[in-house]
Amino acid sequence: MRRKVIAGNWKMNKLPNEAIEFIDSLAKLVKDTKNEVIICAPYTDLFYVLLQAQGTNIKVGAQNMHFEDSGAYTGEVSGEMLKAIGVEYVIIGHSERRQYFNETDETVNKKIKAAFKHGLKPIVCVGETLEQREQGLANDIIRTQTKLALDGLSKDEVKNTIIAYEPIWAIGTGKTATSEDANNSIKEIRNEIEKNYGKDVAAEVIIQYGGSVKSKNAKELFETSDIDGGLVGGASLDPEEFSKIVNYDK
Ligand code: PGA
Repeated sequence: MRRKVIAGNWKMNKLPNEAIEFIDSLAKLVKDTKNEVIICAPYTDLFYVLLQAQGTNIKVGAQNMHFEDSGAYTGEVSGEMLKAIGVEYVIIGHSERRQYFNETDETVNKKIKAAFKHGLKPIVCVGETLEQREQGLANDIIRTQTKLALDGLSKDEVKNTIIAYEPIWAIGTGKTATSEDANNSIKEIRNEIEKNYGKDVAAEVIIQYGGSVKSKNAKELFETSDIDGGLVGGASLDPEEFSKIVNYDK
């Protein structure tokens, strides 16, 4: 049985004092869950979030990293730096990074390899645009993104990769994919992994759904056969709302 993993992606939100208050509230609300809870915070909040999350079941992730360990890359943060302060997860290839910051399948692949090199667990985002979906290309796109992202990884690394299927048209729009559509897309991703890494690996990989996940739709989405939790943007900014998503099974 795969576990459910619910990760909040704060994006460019929350000052340190707000982040500390959030973790304090969330910790009380999710202390009894058996689901995995991750908060992916902006770099400037990470240290505070890590301190506040000590002794709780909240794990901490970053939202991006560079693929080099160090060097002349002004403004960048490496996997080695994240690991050094105690970060455990890192989102890689979010559609906003692909769209606004020239992230490509190639840089995504390099970053995933660098994350594993430093003992970080990647949460890798894939997903199609509305145009691609309307043209009937959605499955091709997500299969290709998955294949290129994982290219060259060992079976063990693939097993330890979390994939987030996030249809771009559903992000921040209030439009959620139907649970059936999301589940089918996630099955496509799982099939692609099976094709390249075998049945055992495909059966173990955690694949989340992301795109306007709220407490109202979490249960329906997460109770399908292949959706193993969610990557949650807007609804992760409020501890009450986010805790209801984490506790969808209570
Ligand atoms: P959303 O964002 O939940 O606000 O749609 C999801 C994401 O971008 O990860």
